[in-house]
Amino acid sequence: MKYIIKEDKLADSSAFLLVLKARYELLKKGLSDKYCLEDFYNVIYAEYDKEVVGVIVFSIMCGRPVCWITIMWVEPEHRKKGVLKKMLIKLKKYVKEDITDEIKFLDLGTHFSNTDMQEISEKLGFSKQWINYRKTL
Ligand SMILES: CC(C)(COP(=O)(O)OP(=O)(O)OC[C@H]1O[C@@H](n2cnc3c(N)ncnc32)[C@H](O)[C@@H]1OP(=O)(O)O)[C@@H](O)C(=O)NCCC(=O)NCCS
Repeated sequence: MKYIIKEDKLADSSAFLLVLKARYELLKKGLSDKYCLEDFYNVIYAEYDKEVVGVIVFSIMCGRPVCWITIMWVEPEHRKKGVLKKMLIKLKKYVKEDITDEIKFLDLGTHFSNTDMQEISEKLGFSKQWINYRKTL
C-alpha cells in the first residue's frame, strides 16, 4: 500500500478533524487553549494627534510560552522617538496582565540583511536564539 499525499484548503479538508486532534494533543503539553490567539492576530498601536503612527502585530503561539511579533512599524516621521519602545512596554503589560503570566518570551525575526533592525532589537534587550534556513521552491 502506497501513501497518497494530497493538498486542500484546511476548512474544506477531510484532514480537518485530524488537525484539530493534533492541535489538542499539542495543547495538552502546553498552555491552555484559552491563551491561544494564533488564529486572531492582535495589534498594539500608537496614536499621535488622533492618528495611528505605529503598530505591533502579534500572536500567542499555541502551547508555547511565546508571544510572536509578526509586524513592527512606526511611520518614518515618528521614528527614533521611543514609539516602538513604548509599544513594547504596553505589549508586555498586556500579555502578562490580560492574557497570562505563563507567556515567558517575546520573539521576533528579521532578515539578516536588516542590520538596523538587529541593532534596534539588541538595544531593546532581544538576543539571538534561532537560525532560519530557506530553500527556493
Ligand atoms: C523598527 C522600527 C519599528 C523602530 O521604531 P522606533 O519607534 O523608531 O524605535 P525606538 O525609537 O523605540 O527606538 C528603540 C531603540 O532602537 C534605537 N534605534 C532606533 N532606530 C534605529 C536605527 N535605525 N539604527 C540603530 N538604532 C536605532 C533607538 O535609539 C532606541 O535605542 P535606545 O533605547 O538605546 O535609545 C522603525 O524603525 C520602523 O518602522 N522601521 C521600518 C519597518 C521595519 O524595519 N520593521 C521591522 C521589520 S522586522
